[in-house]
Amino acid sequence: MGKRFIDLSWHEFETLDYAEKVPYFNREDRPYHAVVAQQFDRGMLDRLCLLATSIRRIAKTRAGMEFLAGLLAHKRAMLYFSQPSSRTFLSFYAACQILGMNVSEVRDAATSSEMKGETPEDSVRTFSSYVDLLIMRTPVQGFAEKMAWLLSSTERPVPIINAGSGKDQHPTQALLDIYTLQRSFERSGGLENKKIVFVGDLARGRTVRSLATLLTLYPRIKQYFVAPEPLQIGADILRQLDAAGVEYEVTSDFEKVIPLADAIYMTRIQDEWDKDGESKKIDTSRFWFTEQHLGLLKPTGVILHPLPRRQEIAVAVDRDPRAVYWRQVRNGMWIRAALMATIFGRDRDIADYFDSGLA
Ligand code: CP
Repeated sequence: MGKRFIDLSWHEFETLDYAEKVPYFNREDRPYHAVVAQQFDRGMLDRLCLLATSIRRIAKTRAGMEFLAGLLAHKRAMLYFSQPSSRTFLSFYAACQILGMNVSEVRDAATSSEMKGETPEDSVRTFSSYVDLLIMRTPVQGFAEKMAWLLSSTERPVPIINAGSGKDQHPTQALLDIYTLQRSFERSGGLENKKIVFVGDLARGRTVRSLATLLTLYPRIKQYFVAPEPLQIGADILRQLDAAGVEYEVTSDFEKVIPLADAIYMTRIQDEWDKDGESKKIDTSRFWFTEQHLGLLKPTGVILHPLPRRQEIAVAVDRDPRAVYWRQVRNGMWIRAALMATIFGRDRDIADYFDSGLA
């Protein structure tokens, strides 16, 4: 059993470090709330990836789809997205449909009673009254954690999934990135020992921060952070890597690291966080992946991107089999279905169906 939020005030809870918070988010060896990358251990990741593959294979037949659609047909989910999203919103929506869940949505806080002065906390508590699961994206760092704390202390707790919060966390993107990397390296020795290169706006990219955290769970991975100085990775992430004994390099020399890379994780400039158009003053063109760069990349190397992209990957690169970012989009649906099935304890049923040979 996990620890009980009700024993702590929000202030007491928010000042805990991640290691102390994890027992509140997880129950036994599975997530109940999925709000920060730090709550996942290696066993959880391996089980989620295996489950995502089982769901993907089961979903290939009509009988399999009917089986999956019966698993959570008695549950309702709500998608509360107060920041724009294409992939995360639609992949969660599709994953809910695969598992048979009914879905409701608020995509714009301007259509909720927040416009009449209701606090976001009261709005989310209201939404939770009608559903069994809340999936939320918010510009406010820590808000998903706060709602996990708040709802767990009510008479009707529901799990929270963080679909992206502030500049700090995007844990389910990191899950799909791990799943994509694992699938990409199935025939080349797995994820261990690989060199993973992050490129772009690493200071404000929450996907990079969450993935860099999960990669610490795999032995002997070296991480490279490639960005112009003002957009370099935060000192907090580097401290986390130091504490985990992870090797890393911080550099602005993109072409030097391309031939070393097993995976290159490109990101766009996150100028929605600009205070005064400061991103426009930074020349990022040295950090774009061009068609010519394909010649420098290992034959087994892969290129990922959480998307959306702008100019940082040339469209011509899409045709190369090492460009896996479109596969990455679809993997999001499978791993999110696996996560929700796990939260509701239906993972064993899926594994049994898969093992029965019906898939
Ligand atoms: N990768 C990602 O979070 O994309 P969206 O913003 O479209 O959901």
